[in-house]
Order: sequence, then C-alpha cells, then structure tokens
Amino acid sequence: MRLLRFLLYKISTMLFSQALYLTKSLTYKKDALKKLPLSADYIRDSTLELCAEQILSKKIVGNVAELGVYKGDFAKKINLIFMDKKLYLFDTFEGFATKDINIEKEKMFSDGSQNFSDTSIELVKNKMKYPENCIFKKGYFPETASDIFDKYCFVSIDTDLYEPIYQGLEFFYPKLECGGYIFIHDFNNSSYSGAKQAVIDFCTKYNIGYVPISDVGGTAIITK
Ligand SMILES: C[S@@+](CC[C@H](N)C(=O)[O-])C[C@H]1O[C@@H](n2cnc3c(N)ncnc32)[C@H](O)[C@@H]1O
Repeated sequence: MRLLRFLLYKISTMLFSQALYLTKSLTYKKDALKKLPLSADYIRDSTLELCAEQILSKKIVGNVAELGVYKGDFAKKINLIFMDKKLYLFDTFEGFATKDINIEKEKMFSDGSQNFSDTSIELVKNKMKYPENCIFKKGYFPETASDIFDKYCFVSIDTDLYEPIYQGLEFFYPKLECGGYIFIHDFNNSSYSGAKQAVIDFCTKYNIGYVPISDVGGTAIITK
C-alpha cells in the first residue's frame, strides 16, 4: 500500500510538471450516480453528478434535455442519472446548419468546419439505458422546439455555435424550474468563441449570473 501511494505520488508529481492533475473521485455518490461510466472529462461529469444530486434530493420537477447531441455520449449520462425523467434530444443529426456557419464566419467566431454528420437517432438510442424516456427532435433548432412547452430541471446546450446557443438560452431559460441548471459547453473554448459571446449577450440582456467551470470544454452554468 505504501509503495502504491509512493508510486501514485511520483506519477502525480510528473503530471503536475506538465500542468496535468490527478484527482480523487467524489466520495458521496448516490447509488444511481455510481453507475456513470468512466469519462475523458472528469470535471464535466462530476459536476453533472453534483447538480443532479441537488435536483434529485430537492425533488425538482421538470424534464431534462440536451441541445447538440451528436453521438449521445453526454446524453447517455443524463439519461442514466435522470432515470425517471423525459429526455428531449435536439440535433440535426446531420451536423451544423449553413445559416449558423455563415453567422460564425461573419462574426469571426469560428470557421464551423467540424463535421458532426456521422451519427443517427438509431446510434444514439442504442446507447441509452432508458430509451423509452427519450424524445428525439431531429432537425434545425429552434424550429424543432416550436411544439414543446415542457418545463426543465436540467439542460445541456452543446451546439458549439453562437446562434443555436443563444436561441437555446432564449428557449430553455424561461422554462427552467427554480433549482434547475443549464450547462453551456465551450464557454471557455477559444476554438468556438461564439459560445462565450452567446452566454454573455443573453446574461447581460436579462441580468442573469453564470459560473464558469474548469472542465475540458470550459462549460458555464446558469441556475435559477
Ligand atoms: C459538439 S457536438 C455535441 C456533442 C455532445 N453533446 C457530446 O457531448 O457528446 C454539436 C452538435 O450540435 C448540433 N447542432 C449545431 N447546431 C444545431 C442546430 N441549429 N440545430 C440542431 N442541432 C445543432 C450538431 O449537429 C452537432 O451534433
């Protein structure tokens, strides 16, 4: 045991010299949260767990959603944790829309060249522990949301680009239950600088606060 601790100490010192960090896992997980698979972004996932724990222990009502699903790797964690809630999944499932890319280029936020078209509803559905809870809304957001009036306790917005992020905040924030959370991915990702601008524009307009966290994508969190 002492040797193992010594080795871990040595490894963590080496990583630290490269600005990489080892961290202990959360020690107070609820049973449902223990099932979360290992992740490439520990801080994003453990923050999801902590926020979910607050929502579930306070019995906050409302459904959950992700805008920007791609292959469903974050969505499957939302589905696993919120096992009793409807999960709305918004995506073109064909990658970025040309009109959003044009805004990106015009405002010099990004070149919008990443290709997210190699996915499908079927592929995402097969990853879900509770597929019966999933409602797929395929197509251009916000058009795909025009017939939905539900309230939400947790929303992940991860569309990378300014326009759908801003529209996502306009759509979801008024429907967010008190005690709920909205995660906006890429807030501190300089490759997608429109994400930060969308959060700043929305939060300035409505005088809303947000918290940046130190996950890989640089998520910001809004609560109510
Ligand atoms: C970075 S990926 C999502 C990654 C996913 N959340 C994860 O963590 O694995 C961004 C996704 O946003 C979607 N997207 C971007 N703009 C959109 C829009 N206006 N309407 C619908 N989907 C959009 C893209 O199709 C793409 O699948």
